[in-house]
Amino acid sequence: MTRPRNDSFLRALRRQPTEQTPVWLMRQAGRYLPEYCETRRRAGSFLQLCKNPALACEVTLQPLARYDLDAAILFSDILTVPDAMGLGLYFTDGEGPRFERPLREEWAIRDLTAPDPWDHLRYVTDAVAEIRRALHNSVPLIGFSGSPYTLACYMVEGGASSDYRHIKGMLYGRPDLLHRILSVTADAVIAYLNAQIEAGAQAVMIFDSWGGSLSAAAYKEFSLRYLRRIIDGLIRERGGEPVPSIVFTKGGGLWLESIADSGCDGIGVDWTIDIGEARGRVGRRVALQGNLDPAVLFASPEQIAAEAGKVLTSYGADGCGHVFNLGHGISQFTPPENVKALIDAVHQQSRDLRRAGNKLTLGS
Ligand code: CP3
Repeated sequence: MTRPRNDSFLRALRRQPTEQTPVWLMRQAGRYLPEYCETRRRAGSFLQLCKNPALACEVTLQPLARYDLDAAILFSDILTVPDAMGLGLYFTDGEGPRFERPLREEWAIRDLTAPDPWDHLRYVTDAVAEIRRALHNSVPLIGFSGSPYTLACYMVEGGASSDYRHIKGMLYGRPDLLHRILSVTADAVIAYLNAQIEAGAQAVMIFDSWGGSLSAAAYKEFSLRYLRRIIDGLIRERGGEPVPSIVFTKGGGLWLESIADSGCDGIGVDWTIDIGEARGRVGRRVALQGNLDPAVLFASPEQIAAEAGKVLTSYGADGCGHVFNLGHGISQFTPPENVKALIDAVHQQSRDLRRAGNKLTLGS
């Protein structure tokens, strides 16, 4: 596998020095971009867009055409895996994702099997291969999956939930059933991420969006344990290049040390923790990705630059091991020109900080 010309994202994940801090944004291809809305309209629906490799490739590249981003992320969704398990994914306007057949009956849980990604999720591996060709080795491509616990939340609840009544009822009432779901889903995620890597993904990220809703003990038993199992099962190197992994547990700031023990190369952090403090706790072991509050993008370009500067300064002037990102996905109401202001500010300020830091070291 050839290294991309701009490999600052991959180097940062290895905690090697970079000239400037690499930046990409969760949900960088999405509804805040008018060209995305236009392609989605042509596809007919969000799901049809995900299932059409040519169109998925087109929207993956849209934010890269506008902004100086340091990585591309596959356009897809975490819920493709439970869909391939036969739960019947659909999207309703205003309500978000839903499943026709939520997973609550013991017989259905016993029958659950991990899908073959090369068969049932072929549209994803095809999209990965097509995006890699279209990128011409300019920047690395990130593949992704949901974590077993986050996927199980949607599978058991049947959609988004405000109280996690069904899954937490199962967690405390029938933990054996939940472990069975998590175990099959972890196997499915390992096969899915490895298929993305074989198709050309150069790094992978696991979204554990709902792990932060658990108690400390339940997080370790029902989320982290399966994250660790996945990382153990991932292809670590392809074509002589390491394939780094990033774990993002939203609300996981309290458990950074345990997450760092999972074997991942990078930890995604949300905006509730100071990134300098996070670095002090785990920065010798893993890279960190984050962590600007996505709502900052509703402020003026000057304020956006100032807030980005606070994150960069708190992390440390050398920036070594930092991938700049938002603390969660970008809002659909974000003005596209503010995204440019953010990305340019991250690059410029991180370069300036490194230069000033070097001068101080040389002068002392
Ligand atoms: O980051 C990227 O640009 C890659 C694409 C991506 C999407 N979803 C596209 C998407 C990624 C990485 C995801 C992950 C995802 N999907 C997560 C984990 C990250 C997180 O946000 O916590 C979750 C929980 C989902 C499930 C999901 N998909 C939800 C809750 C929704 C509805 C969200 C909403 O704002 O309505 C989706 C739909 C979705 N996934 C959209 C996009 C661009 C919007 C769909 C549309 O065009 O209508």
